[in-house]
Amino acid sequence: MCGVCLQQLTDTFRTMWLMTITVGLVTLVLVTWLRDYVKRWRMPPGPFFWPIIGNIYFFSGRMYTTCTDLAKKYGDVFSLKMGMTDVVVLNSLDTVKEAFVKKGVDFAGRPMILSMDIFSEGGKDIAFTDYSPTWKLHRKLFHGAIRGYALGENLQTKVHESLEDTIAEFTKMEGQAVDLEVYIYKLVYNVICSAAFGVRYTMDDEEFNTLMKINKDTEEIVGQGLLADVYPSLRFLPSPTLTTIRKMTKQYMGIMQRHLEEHRETFDPSNLRDITDHMIKAQKDAEEEGIQDINSLTDTHLRQTISDIFGGGTDTTIFTLRWAILYLAVHPEIQEKVAAELDSVVGRDRLPELSDREAMPYTEATILEVMRMGSIAPLSLPHATTVDTTLSKL
Ligand code: HEM
Repeated sequence: MCGVCLQQLTDTFRTMWLMTITVGLVTLVLVTWLRDYVKRWRMPPGPFFWPIIGNIYFFSGRMYTTCTDLAKKYGDVFSLKMGMTDVVVLNSLDTVKEAFVKKGVDFAGRPMILSMDIFSEGGKDIAFTDYSPTWKLHRKLFHGAIRGYALGENLQTKVHESLEDTIAEFTKMEGQAVDLEVYIYKLVYNVICSAAFGVRYTMDDEEFNTLMKINKDTEEIVGQGLLADVYPSLRFLPSPTLTTIRKMTKQYMGIMQRHLEEHRETFDPSNLRDITDHMIKAQKDAEEEGIQDINSLTDTHLRQTISDIFGGGTDTTIFTLRWAILYLAVHPEIQEKVAAELDSVVGRDRLPELSDREAMPYTEATILEVMRMGSIAPLSLPHATTVDTTLSKL
């Protein structure tokens, strides 16, 4: 065969090969899309979705306002497609109660989301990890440890100590303009850190600044949305964002691990100092009682629990306080009434205590209203179903 004919044959084969691959891929995408559309008949109603991208184009702005708008058209339970993943959105108190209270176990799972999987070191925490026997045991021990620690006045004392530090700092700056954000961070971190592992920071403490930076960076990265969360196979491609998340997780968990090790070295079961001590005791008790073998609740689980307390307790409280300050600033008449109630019940010589709560209905109502109005965790955490189930008779 001549050289030119051989070249033509090779080109023809290459073209045919490329066409076959293209037709195969397009067919696969269309068949998957059609299959998903057929599946939609068994799911709550929702907008049209495109192959591969689904409805991700809806989420360029604020996700929770988009969902509120979609609920006006499709009802309180509607379906979306995040890339290739089916998502069901619940948009009313009744449907949320039905799912998480009445049918709690049906809806107790968590979806596999890459950034959550990295943060939780492969599903070893409570907040991001899927429903399983280890997760149930882990959560039970954690709730027991929190209850054990919060009994009595432990938590109130930590709040008072951290507040006294902040008040002293504010007093020094009387008359000056202050950026409250960093003080609120420090106040909340100090309550959480002293309850979790008995540490209170000063403003220039390196560890405090590292934790705060990781917290803010994570918020920014996850807040912008991560493509690999929607298309997990992208995890195999090089990605500066994923590298940053892995690096931040390593640094954060390094800090948690160091505190855990220091606690183990000085652990005294007759003097439980903080939540870390309570968790170590719960782990030891469970081992002694044969409830768990040593491999199912490892130190990674324990440091992840401590990290959950930070993830769950810091931003939520910081945002609640920031919303409260904003609302009180724009509603001075309410601010005055709260201040008057504080003055009459607590006075100016001591800090408020939990026992004052009943005598302060106006202040309590104001806090609840701040939580209702402010968008603190509008999308909550994602859940997954553990079985095929129904909701709102759909
Ligand atoms: C205003 C304050 C808070 C708000 C609005 C809030 C909100 C939430 C929400 C929406 C969830 C997800 C629940 C779900 O999966 O359906 C959650 C879970 C969680 N929160 Fe909070 N939270 C607050 C304070 C705290 C504090 C102070 C802590 C730590 C001491 C904390 C620790 C956790 C943990 C560990 C989880 C996962 C719990 C589990 O699945 O059992 N949260 N929180």
